[in-house]
Amino acid sequence: SRTVRRNADGVLTVGGLDVAALAEEFGTPAYFLDEDDFRARCRAWKDAFGPGADVFYAGKAFLSRAIVRWLDEEGLNLDVCSGGELATALAAGMPAERIALHGNNKSAEEITRAVEAGVGRIVLDSFQEIVRVAHIAERLGKRQRVQIRVTVGVEAHTHEFIATAHEDQKFGIALAGGQAAEAVRRALKLDGLELIGIHSHIGSQIFDMAGFEVSARRVVQLLTEVRDEHGIELPEIDLGGGLGIAYTSDDDPREPHEIAKALGDIVSRECAAAGLSVPRLSVEPGRAIVGPTAFTLYEVGTVKELEGLRTYVSVDGGMSDNIRTALYDAEYSVALVSRTSDAEPMLSRVVGKHCESGDIVVRDAFLPADVAPGDLLAVPATGAYCRSMASNYNHALRPPVVAVKNGEARVIIRRETEEDLLRLDVG
Ligand code: LLP
Repeated sequence: SRTVRRNADGVLTVGGLDVAALAEEFGTPAYFLDEDDFRARCRAWKDAFGPGADVFYAGKAFLSRAIVRWLDEEGLNLDVCSGGELATALAAGMPAERIALHGNNKSAEEITRAVEAGVGRIVLDSFQEIVRVAHIAERLGKRQRVQIRVTVGVEAHTHEFIATAHEDQKFGIALAGGQAAEAVRRALKLDGLELIGIHSHIGSQIFDMAGFEVSARRVVQLLTEVRDEHGIELPEIDLGGGLGIAYTSDDDPREPHEIAKALGDIVSRECAAAGLSVPRLSVEPGRAIVGPTAFTLYEVGTVKELEGLRTYVSVDGGMSDNIRTALYDAEYSVALVSRTSDAEPMLSRVVGKHCESGDIVVRDAFLPADVAPGDLLAVPATGAYCRSMASNYNHALRPPVVAVKNGEARVIIRRETEEDLLRLDVG
């Protein structure tokens, strides 16, 4: 994050505020999100792709009303994948035509709400959905702009749970076996649909450009086939999200301008070769925009030294505010941020307070040997898929998200309370 620093006493500051004061004011655990950094990343993506393309922020990474307003102000569009995300986007005033609706099993209610609101596109994920969306649109007297999501058959080098373009998984319609071409044929016949393009998302936390390039090439190939068969040129392609970020110093992420250039070059080259006009490109980064902009602040509660093994440092959150370590073997770093220490580094495992051994926040970390109850630890790069995947396991209260800007901190999502939990429990 851009405005996170250490002051002269070694205490972490964000936007000029020191973490001890933040912990005092907002409690722990809490996520602190750097608004300037978020906006700067939005602008970097917009500038990289330029006026001939659209950047749809993937709301699943983290969404709130403040986020929607910032996106709107920065000129980004928004990808939502559920009725809940759509409701948040609309409640915060995102113009519907800049919203895309995703999902492999959208309910009739979600589709209806999206069509009624006038979303800019619905991304169709199955043969049933082609018909379902067409019928709903016709019933509402509308013609809905849609893209068809295809699976291009590349193996993205990432964790199995977040790879989405190989053949044996639930998303999209396969290019293989002429499935996608058949989907296009059916969509073109339906009055309720205006087929504007093809969509491909190959996975998430990806560093290698090769997968994106193959995906771009195969999508353009389909546009060529559509032109040859139907005599029409689909005007848009969306190449999804998935650009990886640095969770630890071992990761070496690509910048938005690198992916923009790689994709732009391939699409232009392939289109030129096929004699197609270059379609309008869009992308859907989530993690790469919001991930690096936030850190989680925890307080240490207990320290247990296991002779010859490692030291377990328990913090006041855990898998309820960051499930990624348990779910994907994700790697994070951690730092003691409320003071400096000259103590020797000691092999530590930062764990949460939940009732299972898999409740690990940072699997392997070196913390100063004098780390003690009351110390504050920060885990960086928790802006994406941490609050958005947070749970109430063990009736944990989900932490707040605090936005920091120009030396001011304000809560954008408040901490849950026991009343919040009990309000849902109506038995
Ligand atoms: N577009 C589509 C259609 C997607 O399915 C996704 C992510 C994105 C865009 C944004 O991908 P990003 O740029 O954030 O990588 N919970 C997992 C990540 C799941 C991603 C799901 N789809 C994690 O914590 O790593």
